[in-house]
Amino acid sequence: MTRVFSGIKPTGHLTLGNYLGAMRQWAAVDQHQADAVFCIVDLHGMTVDHDPARLRRLTRQGATLLLAAGLDPELCTVFVQSHVDEHARLSYVLECVATDGEMRRMIQYKEKAAGERARGGSVRLSLLTYPVLMAADILAYGADEVPVGDDQAQHVELARDLAVRFNQRYGHTFVVPKATLPRVAARVMNLQEPTSKMGKSDDSGPGIVYLLDEPDVVRKKVMRAVTDSGREVVYDREGRPGVTNLLEILAACTGGNPESLADVHQSYGALKKDTAEAVVEVLRPVQARHKELCADPGYVEEVLRHGAEKARAMARPTVDTAYRAIGLLPPVAEPALNAAR
Ligand code: TYM
Repeated sequence: MTRVFSGIKPTGHLTLGNYLGAMRQWAAVDQHQADAVFCIVDLHGMTVDHDPARLRRLTRQGATLLLAAGLDPELCTVFVQSHVDEHARLSYVLECVATDGEMRRMIQYKEKAAGERARGGSVRLSLLTYPVLMAADILAYGADEVPVGDDQAQHVELARDLAVRFNQRYGHTFVVPKATLPRVAARVMNLQEPTSKMGKSDDSGPGIVYLLDEPDVVRKKVMRAVTDSGREVVYDREGRPGVTNLLEILAACTGGNPESLADVHQSYGALKKDTAEAVVEVLRPVQARHKELCADPGYVEEVLRHGAEKARAMARPTVDTAYRAIGLLPPVAEPALNAAR
């Protein structure tokens, strides 16, 4: 059975981009068709200046929202990254396989490091090495497929490269994974700045729809979305980024096709109205389930406890194999020591 792994970072409140680009596919397709593993990657939430209490709060909220979005612990594994030591164990080994040039070429590193420096801050080393930890997340589970939005494709490519390089030098250990992107809405753009991604770590603002935004807030944000000069509704990412973003969001929410939706909308106003209502309807059940789950925190904790146990059992053998393959001596208490002599 295909193994699927994906993760989400608790660096801000989850957005419509996270939902349409990743979470919805995990709930609607992956957990039914594959042996699927989903993770709140809290270690990744410390690569820029962070507040410990907020990180804890967002980790719990992220896990609750994954369940609210339809992940079913009977069908898939849901857990918190820091509860499973294998991620950090493997990350160091992969740092010994990756090069600093590879890390410095990562687009997200370049953008985020430039942002930190422009604000006069320093850049944490973990921001540079973050894609290696992400590769460890994926490779520890032997994932065949990694369902992500378009912004993570380069990081999954790196995981592929590291798996191939490790296997060639130290013997076959890792499955070589591939990214799978959604058909539409692989990159939902900021409603106020349609040439930039809608990102949860950005300053909160009118251009970002959060999964827990009230319906009226969603309507207001979509109705005020920046559109382009011109009047006709045309699907054209380069020439009409604002309108194209709305068409993609509408298509993702209704299961339609963005080009055909362009044909049936005569004005920007009509398109915004339909998009706003479609987003409100998509978020309604998620928000209702989130409210129920918040009233039962013991259930969420139990899901995460059990998820971490399952995840540990899945990741441990692969990480142990990588340790042996790269030349680390097994601990004395293990019977394997005799075999290795
Ligand atoms: P993160 O937390 O930024 O985003 C989680 C998922 O949501 C997708 N996404 C989007 N898709 C479409 N449009 C958007 N505007 C948008 N914003 C976010 C992301 O592509 C992602 O799929 N490094 C990862 C987390 C991670 C991970 C992993 C993912 C850590 N380890 C292992 C897969 C496998 C990240 O920062 O995602």
